[in-house]
Amino acid sequence: EKGGYEHFMLKEIHEQPKAIRDTLTGRISEDGERVILKELNWTPEQAGAIDRIHIVACGTSWHAGLVGKTVIEKLTRIPVDVEIASEYRYRDPIVSENTLVIVISQSGETLDTLTALRESKQRGVRVLAITNVLGSSVNREADNTIITMAGPEIAVASTKAYTTQVIALYLFACYLAQERGSEGAHQIPDILAGLKGLPELAQKVLQTAPAIEQFARKYADKEDAFFIGRGLDYAVALEGSLKLKEISYIHAEAYAAGELKHGTLALITEGVPVIALVTQDELYEKTVSNIVEVKARDAYVLALTWQGDTAIQKNADEVITIPRTLPFLAPVLAVIPLQLLAYYASVARGNDVDKPRNLAKSVTVE
Ligand code: F6R
Repeated sequence: EKGGYEHFMLKEIHEQPKAIRDTLTGRISEDGERVILKELNWTPEQAGAIDRIHIVACGTSWHAGLVGKTVIEKLTRIPVDVEIASEYRYRDPIVSENTLVIVISQSGETLDTLTALRESKQRGVRVLAITNVLGSSVNREADNTIITMAGPEIAVASTKAYTTQVIALYLFACYLAQERGSEGAHQIPDILAGLKGLPELAQKVLQTAPAIEQFARKYADKEDAFFIGRGLDYAVALEGSLKLKEISYIHAEAYAAGELKHGTLALITEGVPVIALVTQDELYEKTVSNIVEVKARDAYVLALTWQGDTAIQKNADEVITIPRTLPFLAPVLAVIPLQLLAYYASVARGNDVDKPRNLAKSVTVE
């Protein structure tokens, strides 16, 4: 049932090209110009009335939400807040009938997320769910659902669910811009073309596995690791850091690269691994200057950047590249080497990769 892979996690990492393709299938018009989300079916008035969005989720799904904030805001200019469900449910969020709450849950059964959904509905707020499980509580109780087509995810650490949640958020952001006639809507054909190319590019990224495995073995006995990035790279850094903690038990932290010098730089000493994500072209020089800062403290830097970036080599100790796509879509590709890194570090440390200590796949208790 592991399809020849040693662990479910590795199998699920490799299923991502298919999971992405399946999540896109039927949701892009034949001419590549429009998003089709029949499951929403909103009138232009309904789409136009939304003036605030709250994305609510836990863990990895919350990290997908952070990517969602950037893409929805960019295309629609609607303000988006992303909140951890266990926080959201215990405060008194400012909502109105024009608020949209988006809950993201792979399992569709996470209690904190489900409770946030129920309370939002009680407040009269429309709830859109993004979930991987048809018939789950979240699916049944939300006003609308976008199903991710990742297929069953068995490993506790979420991989293909995350990438498909991000895909669903791109589609939704395009849909909303399209239905509202937002200024950002002119970018939709380019984004849709980019999305269609992702399965093939994700397949190529999987070829980084041997290089990542080597790096993971070399650093498997480290106690700490840092992930840095800016913009969308920061959102992906958070996910990379969680994955590493969760299954390798290496203490990891993700930092917005520009925030390092406000405290965390004190922890960067000789040989500390720093994984630097550098896929956001507008922020390239800024992130490189942060790499220089950690190199000056003798950190060991693994840079994750675009194929063809040769300049980075003089600043980083090792470089892993991903094939070119729109920087806007980079998270889908950039997360894959980080998943592999966590996986191989966990294997090297002899951990139970698919069932990390203290964790459950579906958190149906508080
Ligand atoms: C981490 C992981 C968890 C889940 C979180 C939410 O790899 O899997 O952080 O993302 O427990 O679960 P769902 O998405 O099922 O609500």
